Parts: sequence; C-alpha cells; structure tokens
Amino acid sequence: MNETRTITSLLDGRPVEGAPGGTVTIPNPARLDQTVAEARLGDAGTFLEACRRAKAAQPGWAGVPAPVRGQAIQHLGRLVEQNFEALSQLITREIGKPITESRGEVQEVVDTCNFFLGEGRRLYGQTVPSEMPDKQLFTFRRPVGAASIVTAGNFPVAVPSWYIVPALVCGNTIVWKPAEYTPATAEAFAQLILHAGIPTGVFQLVLAEGAPTFEGIERALDEGMLDKVGFTGSSDVGKRIGELCGRHLQSPCLELGGKNPLVVMPDADLDLAVEGALFSGFGTAGQRCTSLGTAIVHRDVHDDFMARFSKAVTDAPIGDPTQEVLYGPMISARFCDRFEHWLELIRPHHTVSGSDGIGRITSANPRTGFVGEPEAGMYYHPVIVDGVTIDDDLYRTETFGPLVGIASFDTSDQAIELANTHGYGLSSSIYTNDPLSVFHFRDRISAGMVSVNNSTSGAETHLPFGGNGRSGNGSRLSGLWVLDQFTRWQAMNWDYSGHLQKAQMDTTELEADPGFRLPD
Ligand code: UN1
Repeated sequence: MNETRTITSLLDGRPVEGAPGGTVTIPNPARLDQTVAEARLGDAGTFLEACRRAKAAQPGWAGVPAPVRGQAIQHLGRLVEQNFEALSQLITREIGKPITESRGEVQEVVDTCNFFLGEGRRLYGQTVPSEMPDKQLFTFRRPVGAASIVTAGNFPVAVPSWYIVPALVCGNTIVWKPAEYTPATAEAFAQLILHAGIPTGVFQLVLAEGAPTFEGIERALDEGMLDKVGFTGSSDVGKRIGELCGRHLQSPCLELGGKNPLVVMPDADLDLAVEGALFSGFGTAGQRCTSLGTAIVHRDVHDDFMARFSKAVTDAPIGDPTQEVLYGPMISARFCDRFEHWLELIRPHHTVSGSDGIGRITSANPRTGFVGEPEAGMYYHPVIVDGVTIDDDLYRTETFGPLVGIASFDTSDQAIELANTHGYGLSSSIYTNDPLSVFHFRDRISAGMVSVNNSTSGAETHLPFGGNGRSGNGSRLSGLWVLDQFTRWQAMNWDYSGHLQKAQMDTTELEADPGFRLPD
C-alpha cells in the first residue's frame, strides 16, 4: 500500500478542515520520488482548541475507574499487535528506519501497553500510621490534568507511547503534537488510540510546526487549559519549554539530547565493544538520542579497537531500509542540512575512516557495497573521527547522524572527564570485565543510564529512561517512575476521635529513664 495519504489534525477524533499552518509533503526518504503523505498543518489556534477540548474531557476521564481505564491500554496493545506489520512498514516508508528496527519500535509500544494495562489495577496509594490515636493517614495518586505531548520523529510511535500510555491510565487527557515530518505514522498511531475505547475528547492530535506549537502552549498555559508538557527533542527547545512552564509553576517532562560515551577499558572484549559501537553509533543512522557520541578508548587497545571498528563500519551494509542494512537514509531533509554542517567540525588533527568518502552518498561520491540506489534517497557515508579531544567542538556537539568520535585515555580519571565534561547526561556504556571498573564508572558517570558490555541504545521499557544536565531536567519516563510525571500525590488525614487532636502538640510522649545504667 503506497498511496499518498492526506493527513490532518484530529480534534475529538474528527479531521480538521483547512490548513492554517500550511501544508507539507512528506517524501519517502529512501525513495524521494515517492510521496508518503500530504499533511495539512494546524496553527497555535488549533493547538489551543485541542487543549480546551482535552481540558473539558479530563474530569470525565478521571472519573472512569482506573482499572477500566486500563482496559483502553489493553485494547491499544492488542490493536497495535493486530496492525503490527502495517505500522512497521509505514515507519520505514516515512522515516527510512530499517524494517527490523521499525518492528522493534512497534514492539516497544506493545511492551509499554503490556506493562501499563495492569497499572490501572494498581496505581497504589499508601495507608500511613498517624501520630495520634483514632486517626489514619493516606496517600492517593491524582491525575495532573490535560497534558500536551510534543515528540520527535526518530521514534515516531515508541517514544510517544512512553508518555501517552501512562498518562491515559493515570486519568489525564492528551494533546499529542508529533513531529511534522512524520504525519502518516502519527495519524496511524492516533487512529489506533482512538479505536481503543477511550471517550471522545480524551485524545487530540495536532499537526503543526514548532513555532506555532510553542505559541499554542503559551496561550494554553495562559488560559489555564494545559497542566503538563512532555517534550522529547533538542536541548535548546527544551530550555525554552522549561522556562515557559516554569513561569506557570509547572515542571515539564523533558527528554533532550545526548553525547553518549562508550568507554573501552584495556581488558574489554574488543569484538563485543565494536559490535556495540556499530549498533549504537550507526543504528537509525545515528539519529537516536541514545546514539553513541564518542567512544573513549584506553590507549593500550586504541589501535586494535580502531582497526576492528573501521573495518566493521567499512564492511557494513548501508542503503535500502527494506533490506538487511545497518542503516538507511536520514529521516528528513532537515537532518541532512544539519548533519552537513556538523561535518564541518572535523579538523585537520582528526583522522577520518569508515567509508570511501564523507557526506552524501552519490554516484560521484560512492560507497562500496551500497545496498540499492544511493541517489534515490538521502543517504550519508558513515564517519569515524579519531583523535577527538576535550577542546574540540565535535566533542561537545550532538551530531545527530552517522558520525562517531574516538578519544583516547590513559587513566580512569581521564575517561570519566571525557565522559562527563560535555554536560550531557543521557546514556553511557562501559566495556570491561572488571567489577571495580564497572562500579567506579557507575558511581562517577553523570548519565541517567549506564550499560555494561552493551550499547548506549536499546533501553527496555520498564526501566527509568531519562537524563541529567543538558539531557533533561531529571524527569524519567517508563516503568513505575513515569507515574510521578502524570500524577500528583495527594495526602489525606482522617481523624475519627471526635475531638481536635493537634499534630505535634497533642502527641503522647513516652517517658524514658535516661539515667538508667547496667550494673558494673
Ligand atoms: C530516543 O532516541 O529518543 O534505547 C529514544 C533506545 C530506544 C529509545 C531511544 N529504545 O535506543
């Protein structure tokens, strides 16, 4: 099924007329002569209207018992399973992710639903003893309200599900603003959500560019129509969203960029480290927030690691994402332009390897073993940049694309300095079989996520996902931890003694005998 789809925002499940934010045409990045979708975009007004509707629907949804809300998550998980292949193929068509990775991404949605469908039957509060007799204390989780979820397009369904699924089960309503360059996948996922049994108004889809979305968030916050913002994207935009929400005393859930280190200790299994670096550096063409930024390699094994890594990258199949390839095209033209700019950060003291050239793969700039027709899509040579130092722009810049830096170290202090100094703190990895090295690294790395003998990518859906520093504001998605993003703790005390018992003042004091001594 390759026909062009016309996609619009969906307010209360119905397509929105007109295109106040303009229209965009989305080509298949692997086959630029094929159009995947035409999208009619909304503007700040569309966004505000969606928030008003979500806000109006929220008390009703919160009034649905949580175990019943969990049924919607169960239905969604089963619907995603029933549409597994169609959704996976659509992701590959729209963003050029290799089909095996697209299937993994869809599985991540299923896993998320499977984890949270039972949360409707838990969503535990606590009973807590009081310092008074005939009095009991309790805690309850209450939904936050109407939540706007703004997501990137590199994981067009998995990452949105990390927000939307727990937010729904907790009793929030949703305005989802997906990346404007993945409207077809977004609309498909939105339809699955809308067919999962949720009442009208609980889920709104808004297609819009970044600037009108920002304005829409601002207006919705001003009007009191928005209670939470979840954002996955760049650190710069995340800062602006954080400032805006802060002015309204809100704390957004921010999942931002990364410059994820992979440390190779002298005792590492080098083939394993190469395998991990290959997948985390070049999977999804390096366009994951968990992608490997800089491999930090002990000087004793540097040359050996480099020889093996360069060979692995040079030999890797790159090209048509419907085939067995390491990676396909860039997700969208905007990522090509940015990546070309970052290639300019390569300096004369660096040594480049991994392919026959750098930049866009064409017949004039070919890559040996390319799978398919390079000029049909937006394909880029993989680049390994050896000799990265802590003073390089490349060291501190997230280069969202197929580029991996290599730095060397002599002492573990140097390795940690290289792993932390850029200020990002999302994911990290260490290759070693020495438990002391592992635990020293875990203790000193600033990243929110640490892999041991595993790549920087590939988080499982029931561990906390999130970062520190330039990678986020400490919020965590996934597993039980995300519940704190989409609920507020409410404390209740109930005094059934029949008279006023004043905390701290009317509390029984036990008399001790501080002078007591055991006989000599
Ligand atoms: C992202 O890049 O935004 O751990 C998320 C991983 C994936 C999710 C990445 N499961 O690489």
